Amino acid sequence: MELWQLHHDTTRIIIGQAYTPEQVRRWAPDAMEPWWNDRMAQSNPFVAEQDGKIVGFAELETDGHIDRFYCHHQWQRRGVGRKLYQAIEDEASRLGIRLLFAEVSVTARKFFESMGFEVTVEQNNIVCGAVARNFRMQKRLDSGPDVREPTPLSGGR
Ligand SMILES: CC(C)(COP(=O)(O)OP(=O)(O)OC[C@H]1O[C@@H](n2cnc3c(N)ncnc32)[C@H](O)[C@@H]1OP(=O)(O)O)[C@@H](O)C(=O)NCCC(=O)NCCS
Repeated sequence: MELWQLHHDTTRIIIGQAYTPEQVRRWAPDAMEPWWNDRMAQSNPFVAEQDGKIVGFAELETDGHIDRFYCHHQWQRRGVGRKLYQAIEDEASRLGIRLLFAEVSVTARKFFESMGFEVTVEQNNIVCGAVARNFRMQKRLDSGPDVREPTPLSGGR
């Protein structure tokens, strides 16, 4: 419930700065989505806490997809996102994920750029009669050198 409230408020207040009220109401309806708790139990997001209160959460899927990534609307630009992202990147490295990617809203593009992501596709979908612009962004992780099958050495050695 606390994650839903955070997602709801951040969507309405922060993402709402760049999208229409109808669009953000669709992404964060008044009532909690019936599937929300099951989804959170399954995705088991990273959660940032301050003084026992949740101030952000972020989901990493095993294919490298970063799905929901939200910081509390009263905790914007205070380093919460950076900490969550670092946890994601550490986990991705641990899992051997070589590429992280996300569909990023206009309001989060600069953050992801700051984390080393680049835009690969700009998407303009129509949602609730208005353009919902977002960006597919990705970051390659350096997991060390590629290891290939051994090849016979040639030459005078
Ligand atoms: C995107 C989001 C998660 C970033 O979290 P945050 O805690 O505010 O980010 P941080 O404070 O850790 O920022 C880290 C760096 O990212 C960059 N950055 C973050 N927000 C920025 C902004 N609005 N404009 C420019 N740069 C920004 C800065 O370089 C910043 O470092 P600095 O503050 O030292 O300059 C947060 O703004 C958010 O919840 N947005 C709404 C939800 C959303 O759009 N989620 C993405 C869905 S894919």
